[in-house]
Amino acid sequence: MSNTISDKKMATKVIHAGAHPDPSTGAIMTPIYQTSTFVQEAPGKNKGFEYARSQNPTRFALEEALAIIENGKYALAFSSGVAATDAVIKLLEPGDEVIASNDMYGGTYRLFTKVFAKFGIEFKYVDTTNPENVSNAVSSKTKLIWIETPTNPLMNITDIHAISKIARKADALLCVDNTFASPYFQNPLNFGADIVMHSATKYLGGHSDVIQGALIMNDDQLREKLYFIQKSCGAVPGPMDCFLVLRGIKTLHVRMRQHNENGYMIAHFLRKHPKVGKVYWAGFADHPNHDVAKLQMRGYGGMMSFTLVEDTFEAAKKVLTTTKLFSLAESLGGVESLINHPASMTHASIPREERIKNGLSDGLIRLSVGIEDADDLIEDLKQAIG
Ligand SMILES: Cc1ncc(COP(=O)(O)O)c(C=O)c1O
Repeated sequence: MSNTISDKKMATKVIHAGAHPDPSTGAIMTPIYQTSTFVQEAPGKNKGFEYARSQNPTRFALEEALAIIENGKYALAFSSGVAATDAVIKLLEPGDEVIASNDMYGGTYRLFTKVFAKFGIEFKYVDTTNPENVSNAVSSKTKLIWIETPTNPLMNITDIHAISKIARKADALLCVDNTFASPYFQNPLNFGADIVMHSATKYLGGHSDVIQGALIMNDDQLREKLYFIQKSCGAVPGPMDCFLVLRGIKTLHVRMRQHNENGYMIAHFLRKHPKVGKVYWAGFADHPNHDVAKLQMRGYGGMMSFTLVEDTFEAAKKVLTTTKLFSLAESLGGVESLINHPASMTHASIPREERIKNGLSDGLIRLSVGIEDADDLIEDLKQAIG
């Protein structure tokens, strides 16, 4: 996927990556190739497109764009973020072991524990914010290290470069879920990750109108293996969804800058509020791993979580149900602000004692700060917190 666009700055990349005028009409926007199959001239003689599970021009344009904005050589798009994660785990064999963050998206935890564990893949959960915990957990069976940074929902930061060195030594792959930072703020391949995973449903799509996932990588063989899984297992996104994510990517830079600016204002507002307990946001200078965040991220975005001084579900529920601009909903990364209760919503699949042990209390509130006017968002939180 060599393209001179790769050498440009981010704002240019997001607009031009994967965009080639349509050869048949000159259309500047990538057409939605809504077709299941392609007519062939003779058996084995075709234009490189045979069947849309394996090849689709709209998907290929998106995959080219995803690779360029994540500083990777290849990308593969999937029908959801969990389908992308599913494809990575299918690289493994029964008996192989995965070391994963103990704080991550509940759906990833559910996929690991409820689907793949029964096929003989072992998962060890450790606090990856301290690399020593990861090196202590490595065994001869370790084939994959899975991290999320920042984590959903506690905004924990893991040192990608330090973990990549541990993975290299163990001859294991490192996959980083980069959904929260987006390629605008963090590029894990630059720090030694082998695979970057995205829920493109979130910042890449950016408008809460599509479910999609992506994997980005540099290694040719790894790309071949993952492409084989993509076409064999078939969790591919439709062309309309690929078009929507391609369109979303074109404004990633302006959206992320605004998410970051609003995130900064709201995190500081919450921190000063007398009824607010802890605020989890990677941009605070006293965040436990802020030095690492500063090194591997270019901004901290609009994702944050907080507790009230009265850290109970009842008190949180009052806030969750009285905001007017922040809508109570799962998901994140859209232009509109969302408020979420991880314990009962996005992370309900994690057993309560596990959750509490890892610091995810019943009263934790997560915000996906959108790109509305920050003063209006602050007013909304003020009236809800009381
Ligand atoms: C960090 C993270 N990873 C993965 C996923 C799963 O992605 P999807 O919902 O697109 O399957 C999510 C969804 O919320 C997420 O927040």
